[in-house]
Amino acid sequence: MNNKLNYEECLKEFKKSLVGGSEFDMLIEGIIKNISTNRIRWFDVGIGDGHYLKKIVTTLEEKGFMVGVIGIDSDEKAVEEAKVTFPNGKIIHGDFLNKDLERKFDVFIFNQSIYYFHNKNSVIEKCLKNLAEGGLLICVCWSEKDKIFQFHKSVFGKWTLGAFTSENFKELISKNKDVDIVYDKLFKARVDFRLWKNSANLEKNLYVISRIPVSEGISEGNLELAKELVNKQKGNEIRVNGVVIAKKSYNISNFTREKIEALLEERFPNYTEEISKIKGDLEALFMGSWEKETEYLSDYIDSGKVLEVCCAAGLKSVILAKKHKVIAIDINKDRLNAAKDNALLFKVNKNVEFKKIDAENFNELKRLGGFDAIYVDVDWRENLYHPIKKQNIDPFKTCPRTDELYLNLRKLHPKTPIIFKISPFVRVKDLTKLDPCVIEELYIDEKFLSYNVYFDAKIKKSRWQAIHLFNKEIIQK
Ligand SMILES: C[S@@+](CC[C@H](N)C(=O)[O-])C[C@H]1O[C@@H](n2cnc3c(N)ncnc32)[C@H](O)[C@@H]1O
Repeated sequence: MNNKLNYEECLKEFKKSLVGGSEFDMLIEGIIKNISTNRIRWFDVGIGDGHYLKKIVTTLEEKGFMVGVIGIDSDEKAVEEAKVTFPNGKIIHGDFLNKDLERKFDVFIFNQSIYYFHNKNSVIEKCLKNLAEGGLLICVCWSEKDKIFQFHKSVFGKWTLGAFTSENFKELISKNKDVDIVYDKLFKARVDFRLWKNSANLEKNLYVISRIPVSEGISEGNLELAKELVNKQKGNEIRVNGVVIAKKSYNISNFTREKIEALLEERFPNYTEEISKIKGDLEALFMGSWEKETEYLSDYIDSGKVLEVCCAAGLKSVILAKKHKVIAIDINKDRLNAAKDNALLFKVNKNVEFKKIDAENFNELKRLGGFDAIYVDVDWRENLYHPIKKQNIDPFKTCPRTDELYLNLRKLHPKTPIIFKISPFVRVKDLTKLDPCVIEELYIDEKFLSYNVYFDAKIKKSRWQAIHLFNKEIIQK
């Protein structure tokens, strides 16, 4: 037993015996295929020194994702290094199970770290509780087919920390009805056990695979057994890592009128009296715009005749119509009826006309005539029967399709400013493929809400800007 070793030294030695790369590309593929947002709130459990995560984040950023990192590790030295690796992240020293999480995350990842926990059930329960709908729970760890795992099991037995495989992870996850396994692959490479046969190196490798802290020491008994067994290993044994990704389902069973009214009170601070009388199905009200957001937009548009495409229950129309003449269209007749009542409630019925029009129908759009500005807030789902929060990160997979709608509107109105409200979850920069545009990140009370994307003949080069609106200011007025 050698207490002068440190973990980094052991890991360095261990890595020398790994032949044939890592599961990195598989992991990236699994994330990109299944992630449901372009702005990823990432929680790394067992971040270590952060170098592996840095490689993941850099690759995702190169592909256009934005990743906000929180990481935790119980190793103080590793945490210090991870803080340097992620100067803008939040790196915590401590035990994941003792840390209160105040908000939801889009990813919880265990990269070769889940075996360090005694109570895996509690760990997974905690992640699932704090995972956003559509969020990913990712586990990378050895498979039961892995020769290093099998060696571990022979030396340390069944009940040690390391005795947990990607198959065990799948089994635990499958008991939970809120998540589905969406990616399940095995990465196969080689391990050269010849490098383990030197006894000093064997001890270092044992620390890595035992999951026992170096300070606790490996028992003499285990060391002896390992020495005996390592001689039976071949130079070119198979190494197998599982990459398993589970996705949280979209479950909005707690979507009630009461909850929607609480949301609306926050969104319409000047109209709290009207909230209980606002008409519309819960989905339409949930999707509805904010008073402050629409006021800001109204000021941007020169006064005149505005076409509002996809008005739902008219939560945007009632604010737009305070300053403009509005023609508001939607495909849903019930929502349009609700919108008419809402226009009366907000006393703007003389300024807004609601029409049932399919925005995918070029001729119907043509018959509406000319406008000074066009505002569009499509349904961000690919299919209207999908759960409300299930959105695609492709900004064109919407109802109606954003790209086709833009091209049709542009054909009909070559010189009219067209503004799209775009989901906060999507790869918004794809919109620059349509035409040069201004992409605006919209924050309300410092919370990111969505994007406004402006298309106008005057815009020659795409650019980004951020706008910060404050609800509180309205209340103080
Ligand atoms: C995000 S909501 C709009 C919310 C609205 N801006 C508000 O503030 O209340 C999107 C709307 O798009 C409508 N929609 C979907 N497909 C459509 C189509 N082909 N033509 C017109 N409207 C459509 C849906 O019925 C839904 O009401």
